[in-house]
Amino acid sequence: MYLGVDYYPEHWEKERWDIDASLMEKAGIEVVRLAEFAWSKLEPDDGVYDFSWLDEVISILDRHHIKVVLCTPTASPPAWLIEKHPDILPVNRNGQRMSFGARRHYCITNKVYYYYSERIIRKMAKHYKDNPQVIGWQVDNEFGGPKCYCENCRKEFQLWLKNRYKTLDNLNKAWGNAFWSHDYTSWEQIPLPIVYYHNPAFDLDFRRFFSDMTVRYSNMQIRLLKELNPDKFVTHNFMGLFPELDYYELAKEYDFVSWDNYPRGPENRYRSALAHDVMRGLKKKNFWVMEEQCSYLTREDITRTFPPGEMRLWTYHCFAHGAETVVYFRWRACNFGIEQFHSGILQHDGTDKSISYRELLQMKDEIRRVGPKIEGTKIVSPVAIIYDYENIWVNCAYTEKPMYDYPGEILRFYKAIKKLGINVDTVRPTDDFSSYKVVIAPLLYVMTDEIAENIKRYVSKGGIFIAGFRCAIKDKNSNMLKDVLPGKLRDLFGIGIYAWDNIRDRTVEIRDKEGRIYRGDTFADLITPEGAETLAWYNSSWYKGYSAITLNAYGKGKAYYIGCGLEQEFYDLIMKELLSEYEVKEVIFPEEVEVNIREKDGKRFIFVNNFSDKEVFIEIKRDMFDLISEKYIQGRVMLLPFGVMILEV
Ligand code: GAL
Ligand code: ZN
Repeated sequence: MYLGVDYYPEHWEKERWDIDASLMEKAGIEVVRLAEFAWSKLEPDDGVYDFSWLDEVISILDRHHIKVVLCTPTASPPAWLIEKHPDILPVNRNGQRMSFGARRHYCITNKVYYYYSERIIRKMAKHYKDNPQVIGWQVDNEFGGPKCYCENCRKEFQLWLKNRYKTLDNLNKAWGNAFWSHDYTSWEQIPLPIVYYHNPAFDLDFRRFFSDMTVRYSNMQIRLLKELNPDKFVTHNFMGLFPELDYYELAKEYDFVSWDNYPRGPENRYRSALAHDVMRGLKKKNFWVMEEQCSYLTREDITRTFPPGEMRLWTYHCFAHGAETVVYFRWRACNFGIEQFHSGILQHDGTDKSISYRELLQMKDEIRRVGPKIEGTKIVSPVAIIYDYENIWVNCAYTEKPMYDYPGEILRFYKAIKKLGINVDTVRPTDDFSSYKVVIAPLLYVMTDEIAENIKRYVSKGGIFIAGFRCAIKDKNSNMLKDVLPGKLRDLFGIGIYAWDNIRDRTVEIRDKEGRIYRGDTFADLITPEGAETLAWYNSSWYKGYSAITLNAYGKGKAYYIGCGLEQEFYDLIMKELLSEYEVKEVIFPEEVEVNIREKDGKRFIFVNNFSDKEVFIEIKRDMFDLISEKYIQGRVMLLPFGVMILEV
């Protein structure tokens, strides 16, 4: 468990660097991320390099026992480069070329940009190769666009399609180009999707293309760094639930995933928790947080200042979900530039009086004590939720906006599981599910033979599978299947779905076997049981008689189909019923509190986080040692506002 900061020494006078480094050391900072957007300072003109200032910063940090993660500065090509090669600038959907002046202003397929990126990376990697102070690299910053619609991207897209489909006949069939006279007779005719209504199959392939191009550019950087600096790690700062890239593919060649966590406030804690779990799931491995919010944020708006204690709470929340290191964004608030209203650990005044700095001082000793105990612990989960980018993209088939809230549908289940203090993994639909008691799949639109077999294999061997509405309606090209729904999984669920309804604008009544009434929302699959048992029926207007929730025995396992969105109470009940054996037994806690467990060699560490700004009470069922307060505790105990405990079992 280490703490770090994102530091931009180029934003301050030289005289300040040593003061900063000693303040960092005093507060227990052990890692600093540098050079993220510093291209214009590292290569002030074409082929003219100046690493002297960075060398100096690194040696100052060295004297204060602080390690360094360097960034490739490619998120921000300098003005001289854009002047020479304006084609690097991306073109938006309206055909306008972006101007220089913000960041991420490059087209991800541009060959000239590859050349200049490689050149600066080579220079930096050679320069820092033998510097043991530099422990690793962060590639670029937050990949993800803007998407570019330039002529070169169009050619690359055509090539990519040719590679995928081989013949135009295959492509025309896969996309359903008989519709509205869209058949292509040459590859060159294929445009980029800049019309308002585009074909969902076309849309999906363009999303795959953009993701692939990003992975290609990212892999170029990773391979170069690995070749030149084999002893240093290479990572990238991902963006949690960001939907536009296939993060599983992007993560493949990195040593580990890092991500940028900006939860804003406790009201978003489940989303932030889910994002941590998604990030851990990309490589099934613990991760870093490379940018952790330390207080108020800015750009479109200015968010609230974290009250004392909240930064510390979020920090332990990262560790609770599998973070190894938490790096705060940013060391000091900058007095110029677009983020001048953005907080840092130090405020603009640079004194040690800020709330965040004082909190760091408090955490320093805690982390030094707790860290070695937690080292090497893992998150083990009895339940997994499918999180899949093809399904996220298919859910956007009509416009850029998603049809349904993909993370929102996941969160209904997720919240219910977290209330039991149970860890959750996120997985791909083709992963091996055998270690999980329960696998949940909201909005699993896309169904292939491979996925269907994987799910059935899991259930037949004793697994429990739960699907939400709109399951298995599409093929891998985002076209509707011709089967009776839920298509390839019809026998698994023992149902047929011959009618459905969109209920975004109203709710309907659902009645379960015990006579409990729930409100159904969002979408209604009107289920006809064909072997399955009905657990709840629709109880409104013409839906009456249709099943809403069904359960089917399949092999040694069971499959649930939940036909509509339901009130939270329903998810709480079903998760408790299915997962009660894994419920945390040692601690009883209210909803404001989150509980996660890390474990190693039969030892368990229960992380308890109070997300409320008020005192709350929890009940500890047996005598346990709290690593934070260094006391044995039992019985009814109070957690301070934003309080934290780590109980050793
Ligand atoms: C992140 C970005 C940082 C900074 C931060 C502000 O997404 O990586 O460079 O802009 O947002 O909150
Ligand atoms: Zn382009």
